[in-house]
Amino acid sequence: MIKQDDVIIKVNNLSKNFKMVNAVKNISFEVKQSEIFAFLGPNGAGKTTTIQMLITLLAPTSGDAEIDGYSVVRQPAEVRRAIGYVPQMLSVDGALTVRENLMLMVRLYDVPGRECDERIRKMLAFLDLEKYAGKLVRTLSGGMIRKLEIGQAMLHHPRVLFLDEPTTGLDPIAKRSIWEHLKELRNTYGTTIFFSTHNMDEAEEACDRIAVMNAGEIAVIGAVAELKEKTKKKDATLEDAFVFFAGHSSVADGNFHDIKQTRETEQRLG
Ligand SMILES: Nc1ncnc2c1ncn2[C@@H]1O[C@H](COP(=O)(O)OP(=O)(O)OP(=O)(O)O)[C@@H](O)[C@H]1O
Ligand SMILES: [Mg+2]
Repeated sequence: MIKQDDVIIKVNNLSKNFKMVNAVKNISFEVKQSEIFAFLGPNGAGKTTTIQMLITLLAPTSGDAEIDGYSVVRQPAEVRRAIGYVPQMLSVDGALTVRENLMLMVRLYDVPGRECDERIRKMLAFLDLEKYAGKLVRTLSGGMIRKLEIGQAMLHHPRVLFLDEPTTGLDPIAKRSIWEHLKELRNTYGTTIFFSTHNMDEAEEACDRIAVMNAGEIAVIGAVAELKEKTKKKDATLEDAFVFFAGHSSVADGNFHDIKQTRETEQRLG
């Protein structure tokens, strides 16, 4: 397929209404190829809902988005081949070994049989997980499980990797290791990395651009320096910019769903 430009994610007037909530309200934005793009916003802002529409798990109420030139509404199968997804919740089977989890995924993604072993070998090497290949996943640390989840999502060599709060619950060393691997993925394969986080340091350190979402809308989008500048505050931090654009919203304003999800996220890795 011929690309018109280097835009790889193009969101057009995307909305999602649940019964009681308009979770995502007519948002439009673009992400460039090989960008590391952070999605910030208070609990309940609509980040996960947006990501789930972009990965075709949730049908939009209206609007559309193109991933690598394919419409999430009209060409979901093509979109799925172009993306990898690491969810907010656990996505590995603790009762299987590291290798068995990867085997499941290569089958799911229709990787040709003769290539499976080699892809798994390379992924284990890339993630420094070789010596854990035969270990049951439930015996691994949270950081190693996260790396395995990233490996699973990358086995079919997607062009875009979506990660919903990839480092929540991880210690600083594990966090750093995850980011070293994600940056290497981008640098080696040109993978576009789209992630949500509540961690300002991580967003500032890792990403090229940020979108701050608030109450279902994109409050601001741009490079970290641009967001800080827009606050008009001297020596503004990214947290200052976040508060400036996302207002006072916090989990205290959220409903049961948000609070439950936040707690589950905190506890996901025990
Ligand atoms: N399946 C659902 N049914 C009804 N309402 C939902 C559903 N999923 C999400 N919502 C609501 O949509 C809004 C956006 O939720 P979403 O999970 O997208 O927020 P988020 O930005 O990912 O929050 P967090 O930072 O807590 O993960 C919230 O008000 C939430 O309660
Ligand atoms: Mg979420």
